[in-house]
Amino acid sequence: MRPELGVCYYPEHWPEDIWPNDAARMREAGITYVRIGEFAWSRLEPQPGQFQFGWLDRAIDILVSAGLKVVLGTPTATPPRWMLDRFPDMLAVDAQGSPRKFGSRRHYCFSHVGYRETCMEITERLGERYGRDARITAWQIDNEYGCHDTTLSYSEAARHGFRAWLAQRYGSIEALNQAWGNVFWSMEYLDFDAIDLPNLTVTQPNPSHELAFRRFSSDQVVAFNQSQVQALRKATDAPLIHNYMGRVLEFDHFAVGADLDIASWDSYPIGFLSDRIEASPDHKLAYLQQGDPDMQAFHHDLYRAVGRGRWWVMEQQPGPVNWAPYNPAPLPGMVRLWTWEAIAHGAEVVSYFRWRQAPFAQEQMHAGLLRPNDEEAPGLAETRQVSAELPLFAEMEQTRAEVALLFDYPSSWAWATLPQGADFDYFRLVFSVYRALRRAGLSVDILPSDQADVSGYKLILAPGLAGAHPTLHDAMRQSNGVKIYGPRSFTVTSELTIPPGKIPMMEDLAVEILWSESLPPDHHRPVRGGGAIRHWMETLAAESDVLFESETGMPVLVGNDQNWYLGGWPDETLWDRILDLAARKADLHLRPLPEGLRLRRAGDLEFAFNYNAHDVHWNDADLEPCAVAAWRDGKRIL
Ligand code: GAL
Repeated sequence: MRPELGVCYYPEHWPEDIWPNDAARMREAGITYVRIGEFAWSRLEPQPGQFQFGWLDRAIDILVSAGLKVVLGTPTATPPRWMLDRFPDMLAVDAQGSPRKFGSRRHYCFSHVGYRETCMEITERLGERYGRDARITAWQIDNEYGCHDTTLSYSEAARHGFRAWLAQRYGSIEALNQAWGNVFWSMEYLDFDAIDLPNLTVTQPNPSHELAFRRFSSDQVVAFNQSQVQALRKATDAPLIHNYMGRVLEFDHFAVGADLDIASWDSYPIGFLSDRIEASPDHKLAYLQQGDPDMQAFHHDLYRAVGRGRWWVMEQQPGPVNWAPYNPAPLPGMVRLWTWEAIAHGAEVVSYFRWRQAPFAQEQMHAGLLRPNDEEAPGLAETRQVSAELPLFAEMEQTRAEVALLFDYPSSWAWATLPQGADFDYFRLVFSVYRALRRAGLSVDILPSDQADVSGYKLILAPGLAGAHPTLHDAMRQSNGVKIYGPRSFTVTSELTIPPGKIPMMEDLAVEILWSESLPPDHHRPVRGGGAIRHWMETLAAESDVLFESETGMPVLVGNDQNWYLGGWPDETLWDRILDLAARKADLHLRPLPEGLRLRRAGDLEFAFNYNAHDVHWNDADLEPCAVAAWRDGKRIL
């Protein structure tokens, strides 16, 4: 695999006479891919039924003649204003019951059948015109499903769709009442049409009801995506891609990804540090202009799994963004570092957002590779630098890591529905494990929990996995690796009720959870030998060995041979100790890293990334702030 660079470009924002120069400058900077079209519906179909493709034909001609490969987006994240005249009820509705109005983007409800069909139609039109055009190297469907909190919609269309979905899933209303436990508080229904969406209830709705709605909402995203996949598969053999976002969990990305050829995601490290990571104020200050050292890598590894090995960064932050509470600029070198880190994790393409900063509308303060006046912004020099370095890595190879971390979207919905404590968040838990693995210098493969091929991994972690899929159970039984489950693993059924009888996975582990406590942020339960439990603590009855216990003598980590169960949420010190113990058992070599330094192994290459704003000494090398280094078979090549 030969990594390449790309850029997001909006020809419809600029006069045509500057397109040729833009294209030439992209090539001069070493960019080979350009993504266009994903928000251009009002220019492709200015009036209902009146299509105008001429400008897009000319833009594609110019870009391709300059030597660029085009990724064409379907424009369905931005329905034009006239669409509302056709479908006044197509707007998504928030949990408070208010429609999400026209005037920005993503204002559609996934369940609106008329809108979905219209999206298929415009996609078919684009497919007919460009599907056999070899100059279109790939297609992007829609843009960032779920971004701006748009997966769950409480509209009339959703209500209608939900009822049909429930009837299909449960078959009879009695079965639904039974599965949800609706005898509680006299919530029993007489027919499916009596069931409403789980918002605006006086107090908490039945968690089974809410979880069903979350599953339904995820299925709606999958179906929406599928309808465009169908339209495009008829027209083209080019790969189909979607660009996912960071820490969006409301739909099952593995299910959407199963219908596509390549996964991609939009990486905004500094924006994410500011608006979607739990971290201490000191941590946020230390990485203010670099982004969190693990957030990008986590998503690279996650979306590599979603894309079954094929993935891109479709949008890479090139300078300050506009949408976070505060928007500092990247330190010099960070745009290059982020790019190399993505490539080290297997990205086939890293594409910057965007070519030139827009002088108008919502993102006028968002940097591009060029300033609005056409002068170069700092990100462009770093793009050039990466492109000059790329030939060093002409053939990048990805090898299986030694450690696997299971990730499961339905578990995230289960715990979002029934958190039991304000700080129990699935992403946060899994990310705390990922961070610990990376502090120990490990490369990690993230795997979907229901079809995980766990063979060959020395260590497999399954934190917070709500239920055990039978195929996973079998796969785990056959694996020779050390397995660490918990906290809160296998504690609920797929309906979000407590499982009756014995839980097979827990029987294997010879452990039972007697009860669970959630803990407020400042409360710690110290563990003998160092570290503590935070947020979540289980009282375990275990016939297996106690590997760690609390200072009051409660079992914290228990296990038989290679099957371990963790009955709480460890702080950093405790995670480090657990990994140390697991590494000894699993014959895994840990390399505890200096703060802010991260490694990634790719084939015979090893990369190091210095996320610090200061020098770090590592592997006989002095790494400057924001430095990237790479060694092949022990010899430094970057
Ligand atoms: C992404 C989005 C882009 C642009 C960008 C700004 O989420 O896909 O269209 O809005 O953010 O950072």
